[in-house]
Amino acid sequence: MHTAAPTAAIAELVGQLTLEEKASLLEGTEAWNTNGVQRLGIRRLFLTDGPHGVRKVRANTGAFGLAEAEPSTSFPTSTTLAKTWDPELSRAVGAAIGRESAALGVDVLLAPGVNLMRSPLCGRNFEYFSEDPLVSGVFGSAFVQGVQSEGVATSVKHFAANSNEDYRFVGDSVVDERALRELYLRAFERIVREAAPATVMCAYNQLNGTFCSEDASLLTRILRDEWGFDGVVMTDWGATNDRVAGLLAGCELDMPGDVAHNRAAIIAAAQDGTLPAEVLDRAAARILTLVERCTHDHGHPAGPVDEAAHAALATRVAVEGAVLLANDGTLPLDRSRGGLLVVGEGFERMRFQGAGSSLIAPPTTTSAKDAFDARGIDYRFARGYRSLDLAPDETLEREALAAAATAETVLFFGGLGDLEESEGFDRTTMAISESQQRLLAGLVATGAKVVFVVSAGAPIEIPCADELAAVLLLSLPGMHGGEAAAQLLFGEANPSGKLTESWPKTAADASSAADFNRGPIAQYAESIYVGYRFHDAAGTELAYPFGHGLSYTTFEYRDLTVRSDDERVLVSVDVVNTGARDGAEVVQVYVRNNRGRVFKADKELRTFGKVHVAAGDSERIELAFPLAELAYWDVAEHGWVLENGAYEVLVAASTADIRLTAPLVVFSGRPSRSPYSPTVDRAYSTPPHGIPGAFADLVGRPIPAPRATRRLELNGRLGDARGSLFGGIMLRAVVGRGQKDLDAALALPDGLERDARVKSANFVVRMMPSMSLRAMSMSSGGVLPYGLARGLSEMAAGHPIRALRSILGARRPAPSPAAAPVVLQEAR
Ligand code: BGC
Repeated sequence: MHTAAPTAAIAELVGQLTLEEKASLLEGTEAWNTNGVQRLGIRRLFLTDGPHGVRKVRANTGAFGLAEAEPSTSFPTSTTLAKTWDPELSRAVGAAIGRESAALGVDVLLAPGVNLMRSPLCGRNFEYFSEDPLVSGVFGSAFVQGVQSEGVATSVKHFAANSNEDYRFVGDSVVDERALRELYLRAFERIVREAAPATVMCAYNQLNGTFCSEDASLLTRILRDEWGFDGVVMTDWGATNDRVAGLLAGCELDMPGDVAHNRAAIIAAAQDGTLPAEVLDRAAARILTLVERCTHDHGHPAGPVDEAAHAALATRVAVEGAVLLANDGTLPLDRSRGGLLVVGEGFERMRFQGAGSSLIAPPTTTSAKDAFDARGIDYRFARGYRSLDLAPDETLEREALAAAATAETVLFFGGLGDLEESEGFDRTTMAISESQQRLLAGLVATGAKVVFVVSAGAPIEIPCADELAAVLLLSLPGMHGGEAAAQLLFGEANPSGKLTESWPKTAADASSAADFNRGPIAQYAESIYVGYRFHDAAGTELAYPFGHGLSYTTFEYRDLTVRSDDERVLVSVDVVNTGARDGAEVVQVYVRNNRGRVFKADKELRTFGKVHVAAGDSERIELAFPLAELAYWDVAEHGWVLENGAYEVLVAASTADIRLTAPLVVFSGRPSRSPYSPTVDRAYSTPPHGIPGAFADLVGRPIPAPRATRRLELNGRLGDARGSLFGGIMLRAVVGRGQKDLDAALALPDGLERDARVKSANFVVRMMPSMSLRAMSMSSGGVLPYGLARGLSEMAAGHPIRALRSILGARRPAPSPAAAPVVLQEAR
């Protein structure tokens, strides 16, 4: 048990609290606050999202429009940030958001999200950094340090193995111990050890059969005892299952709170001794320590916000995070040459951010059209498609193709729309909308050079890939994404971003394809073979490999030296710019694993760096990583083991473009010995296609069978119960409200406000079928009392008397006088 003692002052304060006050400190209120204790001068904390800016809603009106939120710089989303491969930019963005948070009175920023991109189909990949734990950890750590340097706390989320949206409220991620340690926990570990985040947010899902919000192994033994975390663990919004079990496991703060049942359960458990006094006091002390730590509004007055500097930073990240996926020399464009046709709604209304809890209200935006017009570029424009309408619009399509008949070069702005990609639901395909596919094919058929400028938060299938002149991936580039596009397209800036995830040709080739979103039991049967760790050894023919990205110049790598001692491996190499333009190159250092008895990925990223090199010049880059990071997690010893053997250092421009190699022999470790059964060794010596029978053996217990209930249950998805009487009623009730908002939003005049409302309402409508009664109750801020939720499930199970008892026992908490009514959508 972690026993970091509170300061004497905190201990004394805890001593003055009544049981009721302690219980109240451990839950949130009014969607975004913790409870204070006025009598003792303990103030409330204000928490808000993250991670791409500050999403501070002005009032709990229930709407998700931009008008309801305070303006804040809308930075490129995390996936774009990581594609810069420059952690200093992550620190700078964190510091800027921290500064804006402080100015808006935010105590805790709910960011960063560091879950791994296990599947290209996860709707929330845009909020994450990478499929690789090193990239995720390094960017997450720098971001946390940046935010916290401004006196604002962070909440690293979602702890852990939250890799899909469709089953996030009820699902069980079945992950073997080694994959958990080497991949899913590793970014969190780095961040906790390096950056000491003030809080961690536990995920909604279950991990190996236990809800993360009540997993003592995760929240206490690993997080605190092993990694030394000394902050507060809070739930994701509505992630509590059993509140007392959560507290006992090490989850201090229940968000968004106002669940009378939870407060009563704490009080009852404290009174009957099931919740020991020291556990309760320790949790209260941790909350009070957090209150003390959030110093910015007492002692550290918020510094001034330099909006122009933040806007410039957002543009810079968008430029450096853009990835030139393909180019036959058409890019950069010569702006003095005529014959340019621009096609695609995304040109005028660039999709610069994702939907859901990270939606930011930017003070201003720059579309590509704004940026082209500011430069006086000569072009014709055809809208081509409507992103809120996935079916082709024949008239728009005809107009675009007719215009293309006389064009030399066509810039096509497209990718994923807000109806296709969002928090709250996953995609089922990597294909883009039919309307965009048809348009691209038609444009290519005219014989014009077609450049595809992509806005998308996750990999897509690129139609007609071989016939396109160039593909420029902007990802979701933040409020000045259009300016970044113009700088890159016209060669004012040279692309230098690289992919932080593999781009398979279709979703069927993804490393998690055998399992992803097949049901509530997510079998992480690929184990350690995630992303490039899978594709490398499986020989998948990819669209674009991890680490890939082109430049308008070319680089050569020369004179590799590798030195190592028992502690560190030092790698240095010359990067020579052999082209005619200044540019920047991301140098990736992978280590090919030894061939021992323990199955391993072929190679793994161990360090990386970005170097700016003037045309014709050469720069020496020096990189290092700890030798200990070559260790694998040994499931017999439950610890890291470094194996002796012949490794190889690979200096590469992507996983598929290895430029120089050097041997690395390890003597200081241990002889190779497999901790697995022969069946597991056999099944996992190469990446498994399908789910091997040995998976249960690897996990160490039988894989649970999904319960095939169609009834409304506390922990089932509403959508799965839609055919039942109660399930149908419930689903219609919750979706109905969202649908009304969606219809109202669709009726608004064209513009940013409409876009924001449409995507937010769509997010709610699409997410609700994945909700469980329990999660809904826990996130409703008291609107759906837990007793009522339980009563409904009992009624659905045919126990009317029991149901009546539950319902009558459910009491709504009295709203606090200052509180505006909290509605379901906000208090998700
Ligand atoms: C999301 C979190 C977010 C929270 C508050 C949840 O649904 O998963 O990432 O911080 O809502 O908006």
